[in-house]
Amino acid sequence: MQIDVLTLFPAMFEGPLTESILKRAQEKELLTIRLHDIRGYTNDKHHSVDDTPYGGGGGMVMMPGPLIEAVEAVRGEEEQTPVILLTPQGRVFSQKVAQELAAHPRLILVCGRYEGVDERVRQSVVTDQISIGDYVITGGELAAMILIDAISRLIPGVLGARWAAEEDSHAMGLLEYPHYTRPPVFRDMPVPDVLLSGDHAVIQTWRRREAIRRTWQRRPDLLLTAELTEAERWFLAELAETDAPLPG
Ligand code: ADE
Repeated sequence: MQIDVLTLFPAMFEGPLTESILKRAQEKELLTIRLHDIRGYTNDKHHSVDDTPYGGGGGMVMMPGPLIEAVEAVRGEEEQTPVILLTPQGRVFSQKVAQELAAHPRLILVCGRYEGVDERVRQSVVTDQISIGDYVITGGELAAMILIDAISRLIPGVLGARWAAEEDSHAMGLLEYPHYTRPPVFRDMPVPDVLLSGDHAVIQTWRRREAIRRTWQRRPDLLLTAELTEAERWFLAELAETDAPLPG
């Protein structure tokens, strides 16, 4: 997969893209990330990228010219490539959206800054708009990094086989079950016996139930759409009688 990022601050991407799993994915050529400095697409001597808003009001707005020219130059003839603007006004990012985007061979991410981008950028070149949540950060760069991370780990081969993404929180519509490793007892806190039993089927049932319990306590909204067996629905009904979801 190739991801092109249009940004005023390419150096912001250096840390997250040059360590660990994303670094290895690029070395293995499963992922190509190209950073493009929007300032390179200006044509005045000051390399201006923003200006004051028509109609007044505070803040600066990113001008349409450099952004649209950058998108057109980077996209080339591939008009079917999604051009995604990171903005708090977009559809909210989720594991499902990550899966959808991971199916494309190429994505173009456009990072907005300042008070926003001139509306004509949306009208002419943007095909999708994504928000990472209902809060405002200082620009699209950190949001783009979150998309890149969540999407890249879904590309086959990026995670080792033993790390498959299928059991992640959210991948199965539930939060993930609790994990334990050595030692068997730490500061009087034991590992649940069932995990030491060696009985794979019993462990699987326990993990599913703990995932359901955790989801009920912390994110009951997810249970509206999770796929549960008949027995799991009974388990949930019992939980609902005894355990209230955690506040907040
Ligand atoms: N830019 C500023 N806030 C944002 C958000 N919540 N999501 C994506 N891009 C943003």
